[in-house]
Amino acid sequence: MKGFNSAALVRLSGLICVLSVCSDVSVAKEASPAASVRYDELSRAFELKAKDVSYVFGINERGDLQALHWGGRFADNDALPIAKAARDHSSFEPSASITPQEYPGWGSTYYGEPSLKVSFPDGNRDLVLHYVSHHIDGTRLLVQLKDISRDVRVELRYEIDAETGILGRSARVENRTGKVLTVQQAAAASWSLPAADDYRLYSLSGRWADEWNLDERRLAPGTTVLESRRGSTGHQNNPWFAVARDASNEESGPVWFGALAWSGSWRISVEQDPTHRLRITGGYNPFDFAYRLASGGILETPMFYGGYTKSGLGEASRLMHRFQLAHILPHAPKPRLRPVLYNSWEATEFKVDEAGQTKLAEMAARIGVERFVMDDGWFGARNNDKAGLGDWTVNPNKFPNGLKPLVDKVKSLGMDFGLWVEPEMVNPDSDLYRKHPDWVLNFPGRPRTEARNQLVLNLARTDVRDHVFRVLDELLTQNDIAFLKWDYNRNWSEPGWSEQLPEDQQKVYVAYVKNLYWILQRVRERHPNVEIESCSGGGGRVDLGILRFTEEVWPSDNTDPYDRLSIQDGFTYAYAPAVMMAWVTDSPNWLNQRGTSLEYRFLSSMQGSLGIGANLTHWTEPDFELASRLIGEYKKIRGAVQQGNLYRLVSPRQGSPHSVTESVSADGAQAVLFAFLHSSSMGSNYPRVQLLGLDAEARYRMRAIAGKAQSDTPDEASGAYWMSRGINLDLRGDFQAAAVVFDRIGARK
Ligand code: GLA
Repeated sequence: MKGFNSAALVRLSGLICVLSVCSDVSVAKEASPAASVRYDELSRAFELKAKDVSYVFGINERGDLQALHWGGRFADNDALPIAKAARDHSSFEPSASITPQEYPGWGSTYYGEPSLKVSFPDGNRDLVLHYVSHHIDGTRLLVQLKDISRDVRVELRYEIDAETGILGRSARVENRTGKVLTVQQAAAASWSLPAADDYRLYSLSGRWADEWNLDERRLAPGTTVLESRRGSTGHQNNPWFAVARDASNEESGPVWFGALAWSGSWRISVEQDPTHRLRITGGYNPFDFAYRLASGGILETPMFYGGYTKSGLGEASRLMHRFQLAHILPHAPKPRLRPVLYNSWEATEFKVDEAGQTKLAEMAARIGVERFVMDDGWFGARNNDKAGLGDWTVNPNKFPNGLKPLVDKVKSLGMDFGLWVEPEMVNPDSDLYRKHPDWVLNFPGRPRTEARNQLVLNLARTDVRDHVFRVLDELLTQNDIAFLKWDYNRNWSEPGWSEQLPEDQQKVYVAYVKNLYWILQRVRERHPNVEIESCSGGGGRVDLGILRFTEEVWPSDNTDPYDRLSIQDGFTYAYAPAVMMAWVTDSPNWLNQRGTSLEYRFLSSMQGSLGIGANLTHWTEPDFELASRLIGEYKKIRGAVQQGNLYRLVSPRQGSPHSVTESVSADGAQAVLFAFLHSSSMGSNYPRVQLLGLDAEARYRMRAIAGKAQSDTPDEASGAYWMSRGINLDLRGDFQAAAVVFDRIGARK
């Protein structure tokens, strides 16, 4: 995990509790912005506080750690509430089950989703965790729990971010029993919300080429499970959630949200108990999970981040975006802006060679592209998806002189060079597989089911991990490569790890992903200027775990610019536009045959991190001119688009023919509006668009970079004017779009 920046903190007093004997009150404070952690001995409660958020839990009379508050910020002089276990509702709803615990073990009369479930060699499976001690260090809080009779320790880790109030939580399970035990289920955290009847859950679901659908459902007693059992994050659900109330909407009302930083099988369960309290538990997916801990053994969970706002889903997204920029992404808190890239995939598919790529590179350079990326097909016997994966040597027929002439050419054109790889996979028709058939996930004697003609290398094996690292290290050492598009084009099947004892094989779910992170980290350390994109047949591996090592992600193989409006809208609920790659490709689109203008395709892609994926050899001179102009404009606005504050003014999901986004730069000096029209009927005007997030008193100059405003629009007006009257856009017809820039005149007052 990347630590939060606690440099500005001033510790006011030291640590306090050893083995439940507490003798002091510890408070850590900073001047501004405020973030603090305190333990109040009178109420035996903890508070983590930052931005508009207080997170409070306490030690109840039984010794359970009990959730007390996650929401609006308390005053500094407020007493903390006292944790009191709920009374038995009946013999069927006993106290242990309806008291909101911070990290419940499965045992006693607890019937809800456990955070931790273990089995002991003597058959005992009862685990009841009680508070032991805690330690406060700046904005970090560690709380030790222990089973009531066996020495199973859990350290709960909390940290709060001063700027966003987002908490990072994780758990560390340690076996001190002197005997082996098996962890059957381990969550990173469990979040509790008080009883209410109007909770709504938002989640993201999809499938290949149709990712990032925002689903909304009203919660009722029972459990909703979001998960991946596939060994990786998955297209089907993303490890993100938001919970709102009936009165909440895009820009107002309470929203609790969170995301797991894990790229393996995961689960988030959202459970409303019989008393209508909510519990959201997330971590390793317990399905097919078993992690044996020898005596002294430790299992650490991934991080589960969670935040709160009273200002709607839009603000929840902006907080997540800011948090990712400041704490998650490579080079945080100052991640680099995304260069405009060209990618060869849709133009050439596997038919790459030196002459063809050189021609595309020359054309890409003409329009202002900054990075040229050669996709699949350059290595091994890779002429289609049936062979070659695993053999990461340059195909001599396609590149008789290696990659150097192409890389040199690309660099001489003023661009840097990027390359597609899929390091975790192997085609059975490859030299690597012929040499090491035992390196793939498999159960001996059982089928090895292929998907896209490929099998998954078992990265959990140290020899495989080291091989994959060595291959990438050599590739990056021998070639002047600035960027890797790291693909992953199938999910797991038959996940055996036969070198391990049968009872340790299921560790593969943890060990594989940890080794993946290990490789990514080593590659970055050895090649600090190389940037990486996470791709998995589109958006199948996007999460806060992989994003610590990757500057950007490929949200979907669906590049239709109209479909992309919804895909991008959904994506931004959880992830920052800074990481959202969007290519301008050919029309009609390969997936759905929809025809759209080049300008419309550009504007759709300019909502994210712009790339070009079209076959430039088919372009006309006016196409090149338009592309050069719009790429030039994009470079002036990308700071606001990629790293600014995003307002989803009209969502394409709402079924209206219009959609509008606005991005305001972090310094407030620029706002960029993108407006799209699917079709106009009955001669209707485009609805007037009122902006958000401007400085009401500042003046802004308006400039349309595509499409136009109606003639009644002033060239210049106050922020108040643009936010209250707004702008009338002159948009009519099918698949029309406009982009308007508002530049602040003068410095912020
Ligand atoms: C996946 C990616 C595509 C492309 C192909 C290459 O499908 O999502 O963008 O790289 O692989 O085989």
